[in-house]
Amino acid sequence: MKKLTLVAAVSALFILAGCGGGRDYSPPADASGEQIFTTACSECHKPLSADKAMILSESVASKEAIVKKFQSGSMRMPAFKNIQGDAADRLADYVLKNSEVKK
Ligand code: HEC
Repeated sequence: MKKLTLVAAVSALFILAGCGGGRDYSPPADASGEQIFTTACSECHKPLSADKAMILSESVASKEAIVKKFQSGSMRMPAFKNIQGDAADRLADYVLKNSEVKK
């Protein structure tokens, strides 16, 4: 029961923070994947440790799926339509290489 309340509170926080909409963030042309992650993503995806960005479900453990996720967003995650091309590639590469896949 306590756990459920916590999940609800955290979800409410995300909603209050205005998630679910889009973000206008555009990465600088020479930004590394790590820099983009720190600037655009770590606000919600707090890195687990210095070399562990996040925990991925198996269904998003590919570069294509990660790019799709941050470009389209979801109910609770904003879409980052301006992270495209090389920058999207570097970011997805960084996330994939620095995440743990949940089995
Ligand atoms: C405003 C908060 C917020 C920001 C900013 C955000 N995310 Fe998310 N993200 C979420 C939430 C909440 C979820 C879990 C719900 C879902 O999967 O849609 C999520 C899920 C994900 C997932 C799927 C994880 C899984 O295992 O299913 C990936 C990949 C991801 N985010 C990548 C990113 C990247 C890359 C960025 C930066 C460009 C980013 N997120 C920015 C809130 C955010």
